[in-house]
Amino acid sequence: MNLEQKLDKYWKYLENKHTPPKYVGKVHELQFSVLKKAVDKQDEKFLKKLIRKMYIDKEAFILKNCATKGLKKVMIDLANRFKKNKKSNFYKMYDGVPNFHRAINKVLTKKYSLYAIKHSFYFYNWNAKSKLEKNLKNGAYWHWRYVKFLAGNEKKKYENNIPSDGQIDRLQIVRYPSGGGQLRDHVDSRKNQRVVSGIVMSKRGIDYEEGGFYFNKSKDKRINLESRIDEGDAVIFYGSLVHGVEAIDPDKKLSWKSNKGRWFLGMFVNDSDHVKNRITSEDLTGSIKRKFNKH
Ligand SMILES: [Fe+2]
Repeated sequence: MNLEQKLDKYWKYLENKHTPPKYVGKVHELQFSVLKKAVDKQDEKFLKKLIRKMYIDKEAFILKNCATKGLKKVMIDLANRFKKNKKSNFYKMYDGVPNFHRAINKVLTKKYSLYAIKHSFYFYNWNAKSKLEKNLKNGAYWHWRYVKFLAGNEKKKYENNIPSDGQIDRLQIVRYPSGGGQLRDHVDSRKNQRVVSGIVMSKRGIDYEEGGFYFNKSKDKRINLESRIDEGDAVIFYGSLVHGVEAIDPDKKLSWKSNKGRWFLGMFVNDSDHVKNRITSEDLTGSIKRKFNKH
């Protein structure tokens, strides 16, 4: 049995024995280079300890320095190119789905499984043809492959899948705009990816003033982590922990044209629309009426 299979087995053992964590415990800082080295050196003991901390002790990690050089510029250049050349749009995840972008406002968010005010730019690997798209892909996978490994998958699992395979990787450049960009309390599906990750590409106090990533500590207590997060850091955790993004500069005026706000690079393995009863993330606020979900 190779190491990722052993880790998968360990996750399954813990998942069968204990209920999934809901409210976060301690939040630690860990250099991405330390995780990378542990995976490269096949350090089973270290990786199992990390898994145990995430699942049993409900701990989360601010993974420092996950972004490749120049990644933020690639993201903003790509976002600007899409805004200039393509209308805000939506496509289901069937074979041949193009890359696209959508400004999701208070009305449109009702069509989704989560309540979010954000401008999202979606990228699939089979469309990575331009230099910018290839750079985005390379930048994201430099980090993502190691998170997949920690989650008990092969480093390149799902990477070359297409929608009819069932599960597909999707990169999402997100701008939570100043003027109320947000993502309400939710949990993420653990079916394809136990460990959630995404790279924060802005710094509070420089790019925006208020709001940011939080976990719930209890039913009505939140812990906002943004002051500990620098540009290029990711937050990694087991997807059943309740989390979200508090409104970014809620008192400012929202503009979809500007680039002001909090930028984020999300990476997630989705069930495609070829999958019947596909499992998505789950809103916990009652903001979304599930029976009206279209997307
Ligand atoms: Fe999430």
